[in-house]
Amino acid sequence: MKLIVTENYDEMSKEAFKVMKELLESKPNAVLGLATGSSPVGLYQNMIKDHKENGTSYKDVHTYNLDEYVGIDRNDPQSYYTFMNENLFKDVDINPENTHVPYGSTDEEAKKYDESIEKVDLQLLGIGRNGHIGFNEPGTPFDQRTHIVDLTESTIEANKRFFDNDITKVPTQAITMGIGTVMDAGKILLVASGEDKADAVKAMVEGEPDINWPATVLQNHPDVVVIADKAAASKLSK
Ligand code: F6R
Repeated sequence: MKLIVTENYDEMSKEAFKVMKELLESKPNAVLGLATGSSPVGLYQNMIKDHKENGTSYKDVHTYNLDEYVGIDRNDPQSYYTFMNENLFKDVDINPENTHVPYGSTDEEAKKYDESIEKVDLQLLGIGRNGHIGFNEPGTPFDQRTHIVDLTESTIEANKRFFDNDITKVPTQAITMGIGTVMDAGKILLVASGEDKADAVKAMVEGEPDINWPATVLQNHPDVVVIADKAAASKLSK
């Protein structure tokens, strides 16, 4: 696991963009695994800026998103489908047919999505306060494939900021790539910002692989880059 610690969120996003750009230069038809949430927004802004200023093209890029809430309309402002369109897809030249965000509430739909995923070159991840990756909450087996999951109280609490701070409006289930699915990617890029991620980052970087801290599974992956800002890295001992 390669760890880069940056001064702040903007520097974290720039470092993450360097990793992304290197891949897109060597493989313009890369398959990207993408994430939503606050952590990757700065990276997406760098990608959009680079597309507009330098003409980096996404026309041959294919994307597969990690997760989506259950029971929310695709076009709901809070759906991850909408998030991806608003924060990245609408501002680059990606073919909408090449973008994939999971959708559904059944095991069959989860299996179908899992089987549709091409070999991912680069999987982008954020990390939850409880160490979740995707919506793989603590206790998720490391070999699980895409599945339907009940969100934990900690995750519902963390995500209420997107739902008028009203916990009753936050969906209670999601469809998520499993940890086994995530681990199939050729390379993993995880971005973490802020003090509330410090315990999870410490467990991921310094702890033993442990299903109670899902991100610790990344220690078993041969090519992981973690980019954490100073606050997220503040509990690391080394
Ligand atoms: C998002 C996802 C989640 C987030 C995590 C951190 O697609 O899968 O695991 O990456 O909850 O969220 P933020 O970045 O909002 O702190």
